[in-house]
Amino acid sequence: MIRSRFRQATLAVSACVLTLVSLTLIPSHFAVQAAQESPQQGPPPGGPPPGGMPRQMPKPTNLKVLPKDLTGKEVHDIMDKWAGQLGVHCNTCHAADPNRVGPNGRPMLNFPDDSKQEKKTARVMYKMVQDINSNYVMNLPNAKDPVTCGTCHRGHQKPEAFVPPPEENHPH
Ligand code: HEC
Ligand code: HEC
Repeated sequence: MIRSRFRQATLAVSACVLTLVSLTLIPSHFAVQAAQESPQQGPPPGGPPPGGMPRQMPKPTNLKVLPKDLTGKEVHDIMDKWAGQLGVHCNTCHAADPNRVGPNGRPMLNFPDDSKQEKKTARVMYKMVQDINSNYVMNLPNAKDPVTCGTCHRGHQKPEAFVPPPEENHPH
């Protein structure tokens, strides 16, 4: 009895966590749907505070694969994840703008600019991950964890080759 209540609670909690995970890990998937179904829809709850975004997070102007209605803050949150999962900084994909010097005396990054190959590659990667999740992984029965950049990259700019430890090659 108590056990089954506990199970119910656990299930409810996992459902919540699942929703949260999907929303944070594959926001694009949902946002794309939302964008297609109701282009008028405003920013989701937890979006920008009334009064607009801080100056450093202007509305994106050059999104080609992410949903175009994302706020500056939402794009930043996704970028933080990509950078973390690849173990890189923003300037791996974004070119410096020699004409704009930041408070630290270094050139600021031109985020909408498309000149770096890494940025173009990241777009291809993003589309690949969406395809993997929506057409394959998340269609599996009991699918729980979507593929992310980190699934392959694991903190490296280029995924490292996997070399199985010698023991695993022994036949049993
Ligand atoms: C792995 C490559 C990669 C890294 C690392 C990365 N970005 Fe991006 N960023 C992109 C790509 C690709 C786009 C364009 C997405 C699209 O076309 O929908 C983008 C778009 C943006 C935009 C929107 C520009 C516009 O106006 O269209 C901002 C702002 C941005 N990134 C900020 C950052 C910040 C801040 C960091 C570091 C925390 C960062 N990025 C790290 C690849 C990267
Ligand atoms: C299924 C595995 C996989 C996933 C998932 C994945 N990548 Fe990759 N990525 C690769 C492989 C493999 C390479 C190296 C290709 C090569 O040999 O140049 C790569 C290369 C890259 C590069 C170029 C690195 C360089 O120095 O040239 C960028 C940038 C990149 N990935 C970004 C991303 C981002 C951003 C995501 C998530 C949106 C992502 N990747 C998800 C497998 C993956």
